[in-house]
Amino acid sequence: MKVSASFLSSKNIPNDLIKLNETDVDYIHLDIMDGKFVKNKTMPFREMKNIYKYTSKRLDVHLMVSDPLKYIPLYAELNTEYITFHIEVDQDIEKCLNLIKSYSIKAGLAIKPDTPISSLVPYLPYLDMILVMSVEPGAGGQSFIEESENRLEEVRTLLDEYKIDAVINIDGGVNNETVKMCSKADIVVSGSYIISSDDFQEKINTLR
Ligand code: DX5
Ligand code: ZN
Repeated sequence: MKVSASFLSSKNIPNDLIKLNETDVDYIHLDIMDGKFVKNKTMPFREMKNIYKYTSKRLDVHLMVSDPLKYIPLYAELNTEYITFHIEVDQDIEKCLNLIKSYSIKAGLAIKPDTPISSLVPYLPYLDMILVMSVEPGAGGQSFIEESENRLEEVRTLLDEYKIDAVINIDGGVNNETVKMCSKADIVVSGSYIISSDDFQEKINTLR
């Protein structure tokens, strides 16, 4: 199991990024919110891009924005492995996925807890990642929705059925207990569980 650490709930981002950089965490999960697709808003790109000063980890970028086409070129500039946006956006999904790939970055689609898994089917051939949300997007520190375990299973079945080689990521409320419901995922995102501790590495180990 790979672990992607979210610093959305961090009170001291430079400090927490430096501490995460000393662990063997696989990715930094970068939550981007525009105040439209979700109520909250994260800092603008001109500030966010400075995270490169504190981390050398590859980024797993999660765009919770209504206009991915505007944000993809910005986040493609960073040390980015994946860019993921939401299937619920009112945009040309294929165009957004192709834009990500034009930068040779892996492309993902995120899916909210109430969106049917079957809506992913038309896009499967273009996907490197599926990000299953196990909370409503918009804030860190929420509780894991237990139904997500079945949704992970459903995504795994789809990938097998269509012979698609994409990774499954799960995001929201993942800790040492709820990770037991994530066995069908390849990557787990964890935020407050890691960041609220004084021993990041120990928490990361419990997720693997
Ligand atoms: C929720 C974000 C998550 C969140 C994860 O909108 O996409 O990445 O920050 O944090 P925890 O682990 O605290 O739920
Ligand atoms: Zn996220």
